[in-house]
Amino acid sequence: MPDTQRHPFLHGLSLHRGAPPTVIVIFGASGDLTARKLIPAVYNLSHDNLLPADFFLVGYGRTAIPDEEFRSLAAAAVREFSRRELREDAWSRVAAHTSYVAGAYDDPKAFDRLAEHLDALERKLGRELQRLFYISTPPSVFAPIVRHLGTSGLAGRHRDQPHHARVIVEKPFGKDLGSARALNTAIGAVFAEHQVYRIDHYLGKETVQDLLVQRFANAIFEPLWNRNFIDSVQITVAEEVGVGSRGGYYEQSGALRDMIQNHTMQLLALTAMEPPGSLEAEAIRDEKVKVLNAIQPLTIGPAGDVARAQYSAGMLGGKAVPGYLEEEGIAPDSNTETFAALRLSINNWRWQGVPFYLRSGKRMARRVTEIAVNFRRPPGTLFAGETSRFDLAANTLSFQIQPDEGLHLILNTKVPGLETRTQPVKMNFRYATTFGSNTAEAYERLVLDAMIGDGTLFIRGDEAEASWKLYTPVLDYWNSVGRSGMDTYAAGSWGPASAEALLAARGHGWRQP
Ligand code: BG6
Repeated sequence: MPDTQRHPFLHGLSLHRGAPPTVIVIFGASGDLTARKLIPAVYNLSHDNLLPADFFLVGYGRTAIPDEEFRSLAAAAVREFSRRELREDAWSRVAAHTSYVAGAYDDPKAFDRLAEHLDALERKLGRELQRLFYISTPPSVFAPIVRHLGTSGLAGRHRDQPHHARVIVEKPFGKDLGSARALNTAIGAVFAEHQVYRIDHYLGKETVQDLLVQRFANAIFEPLWNRNFIDSVQITVAEEVGVGSRGGYYEQSGALRDMIQNHTMQLLALTAMEPPGSLEAEAIRDEKVKVLNAIQPLTIGPAGDVARAQYSAGMLGGKAVPGYLEEEGIAPDSNTETFAALRLSINNWRWQGVPFYLRSGKRMARRVTEIAVNFRRPPGTLFAGETSRFDLAANTLSFQIQPDEGLHLILNTKVPGLETRTQPVKMNFRYATTFGSNTAEAYERLVLDAMIGDGTLFIRGDEAEASWKLYTPVLDYWNSVGRSGMDTYAAGSWGPASAEALLAARGHGWRQP
C-alpha cells in the first residue's frame, strides 16, 4: 500500500485518498521553473510521505544531460530553492527513480524514444504507471508537445483509461482569445478536458483556498456579501521586483497578460462567485465561469475603465533602481505596461452597481497581495457632525493573501475616556501566529492534486477563454495606439495618477495596503 493511502487528506477542496503509482515527465526539465518550483515541490511531497511508493520522475529537454548529472542538478535545486533542507532519505527515494531523456519538442522520433523509456520503466516495475506530463516550456512549443504526445501514443493509448494519462500546462495559456482557443483545440484533439490541468499557481496558495472556506464556512459573511452591504471591492497584487533578467519574456507579456488576466482574475472569481452546489471541481469551476461571463465589457480609451503605466527610476528599500525603459532587454520605446489598473462591473443580481477595482504592478512600494471588501457606511445619524471626535471608517474586510497571510477587519471603536470619541481599529488574524509559517508551497499542492486527479485548483478551458474574452479588446486597443496613454509611476510608489483617477471618478480611492 502506498504511504499516502494511510493518510486521507484534503486536496483541492474535497477529500481524497492517495495518488496512484505515477511517472511525472517534465518537459523543459533544464528550465528555471523546474529548478525553482517543480523539483523542490516533488522533494517536499516525498519528505511528507505524500508521493506514491511507485513514483518516477523523468526530465525531458533539448540539451543532452546524463541521468547522473540530472540527478545532481535536481539535488542542487532542492538545496537552493526548497523551503526545507535536503534530507538524504527523503531525497534518495526520488533520486533513485529519476532519469532524463533528451529530445527536441517537435521531433516525433524523440517522443517515440520517450515512449520506449516509459515502457521500459513499467516493464521493470511490472505494473502500469499513471503518466503525468508537465509542460513547462516556452509557450511556442506547448501545441507541438501535445500533438506529439498524441501521435506517439503516449496520451492516446490511455484515452479510454483517462486516469492513466494527464497533462499539466504551465502559463501563459495563450496570449489572447484566439491563441487560447487554438491551444484548447490542440489539447482537446489529444486529451479529454478532465485530463487537462492548466496551472495558475495562485490557486495553490493556502490563503487563496481559504477564501472559499472563509466565505462559505462562516455564517456571518454570506448574508452581507452583495450589493446591499458592499460598496466596492479592491484587489491589489503588488510586487517589489522589477523585470530582472526576464525582459525578453516580459516585453511580449506586460502586466495585463502576466498578472491580471490570470492570477488577479482568479482572486476576483473566488471573491465574487455564487456558492457552489458542492466542493467538486466542476461545481466550483462552473460558478467561476458564470461570474467571469457576467463581467461587462470594458470601456477602453481615454476616461475608460483601464489604466496602464511603466515604472520610472525610483527608490526601493533605500536603493536607487532604474526605470523600465533602462532595464536589460527592454526596447527604449517599449509599449509594454508594468502596471495595470481596472474598474470592472459584474452584471448580475448580487453585484450590480458594485465596482471591482483591480491593480497589479512591478516595482511597487511593497510586495502585497490583498482583497479588500469595503462595506457601506452606516447611516450617519449618531456619530456624526464633529469629525475631530468621530473618526469613522467604512468597515473593510481584507484577505491578506501574501506575504503576511491573514484576515483583517476594520471596525470603529470608542476610544477609552470620559468623552465619546471614536477611532477605527484593526482586528487581526495572522496565519503564522496561529498555524506557524512553514506551510506547503503552491506547487506542492498543485502537483499532488494533478497526480490525484483533482482539478479544483486548475483553470478549465472555458474559464481561460472567458478571461481572455474580456481583455483581448484592451490588448488590441493598446497595440493599435502605441505608447499613447501610457502613464508612468516612480519605482517604489503605489502606482500612477491615472489609476487614482479611475477610482476618484466613482468617489473612491485606493487603500494603502
Ligand atoms: C508569475 C509571473 O506568474 O507570478 C511573474 O509571471 C510574477 O511575473 C509571479 O513575479 C508572482 O508570483 P508570486 O507567487 O511571487 O506572487
